[in-house]
Amino acid sequence: MEEIYNETRDFWNTKPCGSYMSSYKIYSYEFFQDFDTKFRLLYPYFDEILDVEQYRDKKVLLIGLGSGYELGQISQVTNKLVALDLSNETIELANKRKEVFNLTLKTVCASATDMPFEDNSFDALVSIGCLHHIPDIDLVVNELNRVLKKGATLNIMLYYKYSVRTLFGIYLKRLFLKEYKGLNYEDSIATAYDGVGNPYARLYSKKDVKKVFRGFKDFSFEIENFDSSDLLPRIGRLLPRNFYLKTIGKIMGLDLYFKAIKE
Ligand SMILES: C[S@@+](CC[C@H](N)C(=O)[O-])C[C@H]1O[C@@H](n2cnc3c(N)ncnc32)[C@H](O)[C@@H]1O
Repeated sequence: MEEIYNETRDFWNTKPCGSYMSSYKIYSYEFFQDFDTKFRLLYPYFDEILDVEQYRDKKVLLIGLGSGYELGQISQVTNKLVALDLSNETIELANKRKEVFNLTLKTVCASATDMPFEDNSFDALVSIGCLHHIPDIDLVVNELNRVLKKGATLNIMLYYKYSVRTLFGIYLKRLFLKEYKGLNYEDSIATAYDGVGNPYARLYSKKDVKKVFRGFKDFSFEIENFDSSDLLPRIGRLLPRNFYLKTIGKIMGLDLYFKAIKE
């Protein structure tokens, strides 16, 4: 496997995505409870987008697990969930969540570019905040076309190309923050989204999505999320997060959610 995938695995192994959000002991019941509560507060729109009821009794593939919010939600409605991640530490965390809450699901440590699954075996794919970390996105799309059944649904989030961050915030950060000194635009983007040392992140427009996700139809899009640190500090802190989420975040937010159907 290419070096970039090893770097990506090492990066998420050091601290599974989102695990910094809770100060409870990692792997504990309290950690998962606290993480889920904070996740819901931070992303108040998320449950509606996930729309977990649509996955009742379906065979769902989840790619990119982080601290496992989606995994916890989807496993409430189906016992045929398969959860895949490149990082073994992240898989370990998912296995702990599974044990602590007595969930029925299968975890798999592999790259989304080469999935150990049979052809036409899944009814749905959910992947939130993961596929933009994969340089060979075409390989992932090939794999999705192979493992998903005809009519299977996609529910995906990728970083949005035309956000306040990419058009404004990133330049502020590169000017004023020391961790951005010497980084080019691409590396600054990777740092701004996931922290220092994140090896790769690509931004997507709606047009990019339609071009890259060949073999899928009926695309629908939603833009969400906002980070006030992308505005000048004084302006940014003037208003509560919920105000930004409900206004500018819907037009120039950080995240591009989309749904589509396999042809
Ligand atoms: C930003 S986190 C998102 C996690 C979670 N979905 C959330 O919303 O919090 C990205 C996740 O994608 C995983 N990942 C990165 N590259 C991958 C690849 N090639 N195949 C599978 N998973 C990958 C990382 O290990 C990490 O757990």
